[in-house]
Amino acid sequence: MQSEILVHARDVRKTFGDFEAVRGVSLEIRKGECFGLLGPNGAGKSTFISMLYGVVNRTSGELSVFGQDPRTNARAVKRRMGVVTQDNALDESLSVRENMLLYAAFVAMPVDERGRRVDALLEFMSLAHKAHDSIRFLSGGMKRRLVFVRALLGHPDLVILDEPTTGLDPAVRHLLWGKINDLKAEGKTILLTTHYMHEAEVLCDRLVIMNQGQVIAEGTPESLRLKHTPGYVAVFPKTHGHRHVQEAAEKRGFQLVEDSSGIYIRASELTELLSLQEEVKVQALQLRPSHLEDVFLKLTGKELNADA
Ligand SMILES: Nc1ncnc2c1ncn2[C@@H]1O[C@H](COP(=O)(O)OP(=O)(O)OP(=O)(O)O)[C@@H](O)[C@H]1O
Ligand SMILES: [Mg+2]
Repeated sequence: MQSEILVHARDVRKTFGDFEAVRGVSLEIRKGECFGLLGPNGAGKSTFISMLYGVVNRTSGELSVFGQDPRTNARAVKRRMGVVTQDNALDESLSVRENMLLYAAFVAMPVDERGRRVDALLEFMSLAHKAHDSIRFLSGGMKRRLVFVRALLGHPDLVILDEPTTGLDPAVRHLLWGKINDLKAEGKTILLTTHYMHEAEVLCDRLVIMNQGQVIAEGTPESLRLKHTPGYVAVFPKTHGHRHVQEAAEKRGFQLVEDSSGIYIRASELTELLSLQEEVKVQALQLRPSHLEDVFLKLTGKELNADA
């Protein structure tokens, strides 16, 4: 059975002045999946997301969210959506609980539900002990969790997470991954942007990689890996001997990507890389199966976009 499509985008474009930030994006997000939107800084991810709930109006193309056009029905669309925006945008003068109650009023939640709902979500995000503290004194990780609480207040069907874990320590990141999986288990649909490839691998059922406003790859994390960077990767340091390593790898016909952090050499078997390591007499920094980060580097290039 074909699952329900919650977001349908066809050739969506957004122009700011004479700059085209989103250049013909087509994608579909199915009910119940965690869909990833990856891409370098400035790729157009946040702009695309903003068009889904009518904060930014698209310049052209077809877009429907819950079967509605967010350009004309932003209110109806927003009612079924919760957004963890890239910036926290919390009112720092209020306490945690006050801020959430205010927001519950803002989204027109019935008065008798507000306290119970806020407390349940503070508990869910492990923030109950901070309910009466001023937001000003929360750590970065706590503020991020509070933005999750805010996004979930209105029982959204679609949860949009724009870089939910950027700048957070590994423990908080792992806690949030658990919460995101809980949301998935409840049947919520999730749209996630992240710069952490491992996070996308852990959470996303399907994803697209965007670059300079366009979708350049689409699939499951595993299918992208098998298609673009199958096999194993050795990362060698960029020391004085690295040209020698590079030449030896090229002679063996291995794939090579170089960036400021090292030389990434890919071969179909781990034993081939071990034998290369032996030949060049340089210890690799890493020897591992390829992962999504290798796909990302290969497809988006090693240079930063000038407008990032
Ligand atoms: N309101 C605006 N006016 C002009 N240009 C804008 C506006 N909003 C975004 N842009 C430009 O559009 C491009 C895409 O920005 P966007 O914020 O969507 O990127 P992103 O993929 O979310 O990047 P990041 O990973 O850094 O968050 C950038 O070049 C940005 O400068
Ligand atoms: Mg962004």
